[in-house]
Amino acid sequence: MYKIARKKVLNPTVTQMEIVAPLVAAKAKPGQFIILRVDEDGERIPLTVAGCNQEDGTVKIIFQIVGATTAKLNQKEEGEYIQDFVGPLGVATHTEGIKKVCIIGGGVGCAIAMPVAQEFHRLGADVTSIIGFRNKDLLICEDEFREASNKLVVMSDDGSYGRHGNVTVPLKEMLEAGEKFDLIITIGPVIMMKFVVATAKPFGIPVTVSMNPIMIDGTGMCGGCRLTLNQDGKKVTKFACVDGPDFNGYEVDFDEAMSRGRMYSDFERHAYGEACN
Ligand code: FES
Repeated sequence: MYKIARKKVLNPTVTQMEIVAPLVAAKAKPGQFIILRVDEDGERIPLTVAGCNQEDGTVKIIFQIVGATTAKLNQKEEGEYIQDFVGPLGVATHTEGIKKVCIIGGGVGCAIAMPVAQEFHRLGADVTSIIGFRNKDLLICEDEFREASNKLVVMSDDGSYGRHGNVTVPLKEMLEAGEKFDLIITIGPVIMMKFVVATAKPFGIPVTVSMNPIMIDGTGMCGGCRLTLNQDGKKVTKFACVDGPDFNGYEVDFDEAMSRGRMYSDFERHAYGEACN
């Protein structure tokens, strides 16, 4: 069992928890994830590591309350326990040789992008961050991004905070003004990542996307997290849990990923209703 050391509500639908898991805290790197179960009968859900505290052996996770399991997790309080907390899983974000990077986060994806920005900052890279939210109430991690970034642009879809519009607007402006990033890393809704890739393509800048498909075992055995990549004209199947979650954005079949992401939405809505009643 794993103790919830601290809990903080970041906005009405997003919660941060720090879980006592010293073995995971000692090894996890930005970009990696854990799989947890809230209780014995619970489903396994992947959550990206948002930070580690070596001193007290805690691992920070940030989750959006979108379904039955995250609703149950959110009902837990400080001092209570969750059943399983397995990790670190997946491949850490590649940072070698990157001197100038643009990190683009959308919604709760900013919780995953934030430790990546912090890692590049720690390594001495020039970090530009663009973070986007639907509105001011959903803003998270702004202070952390400000601290880790040489330049930060905050966007909101409705104009209630920062600039009005989506994250591709400032990205396009920067690229048209001649900004030369070694790499763009984008984390958030699949549709947002698809459009970030389309915006960057004419400028020939590499884009890494962080895919977060449905996962079950997290070990490459079940095939639940499979993605199709287009590599040199060939379709190649990869598993986000062991080959990712980071992939070359120019290779990912985003339309297939979005369609697979919707496969269980009816079932999930039903389970969420039960968990909340
Ligand atoms: Fe089962 Fe990736 S979660 S193969």
